[in-house]
Amino acid sequence: MNTAPLATCVFDDIITAIAGPGVGIFPGFLDAAQTAALRRDFASLPDWQLTPAGIGREHSHHNNERIRTDKTRWLDGATAPQQGFMTLMAELQQQFNRHLFMGLKDYECHYARYDQGDFYKKHLDAFRGRSNRRLTTVLYLNESWQPDHGGELLIYAEKGRQPLYRVQPEGGTLVCFLSERFPHEVLPAHRPRLSIAGWFRVDDPVAAALRL
Ligand code: OGA
Ligand code: MN
Repeated sequence: MNTAPLATCVFDDIITAIAGPGVGIFPGFLDAAQTAALRRDFASLPDWQLTPAGIGREHSHHNNERIRTDKTRWLDGATAPQQGFMTLMAELQQQFNRHLFMGLKDYECHYARYDQGDFYKKHLDAFRGRSNRRLTTVLYLNESWQPDHGGELLIYAEKGRQPLYRVQPEGGTLVCFLSERFPHEVLPAHRPRLSIAGWFRVDDPVAAALRL
């Protein structure tokens, strides 16, 4: 994936958003060609490689069809589009560490497909002191998403009942927020909805405590 056209000023905007409100939405983070390359890469995966979301890793405690029904596949960097995306996120990680001293150690991300009717109820990606996830990213891969296709991402303030943001999952849009601070949900999609959800992580808090 050619990431050259991506201006570093977008990185500056992301840093500013995370340092300020802790959340930011960036339409056009990837251009149409970059987005299409990732969409094709995802589409080329056979269905048997997709896992009902939440099996293993962090979300096992609520792997539950009442909470989420999407299907996921971890990126492993085996293809050029995946490598391009992961390289870009590694650069973003460096910027966070350089400017905000976040101590981010790595980034994990998965493709997610919400088929018609799929949803993800309101949740937090990380609980304070119990997770090494610090920053969530979501990149959308959908072409010409329309409001009546559903599948909006709603982002809430820590204790708010009304969403702070409603995000259309339009291809190329990146959403970034502090994982411990913003509950969020995905409304039922009315057509297949594709994304890459990812998390920048610090050292495991339990392992870190044991080293004391
Ligand atoms: C997640 C998530 C949001 C989205 O995977 O944890 O909240 O818009 N995804 O896909
Ligand atoms: Mn989430």
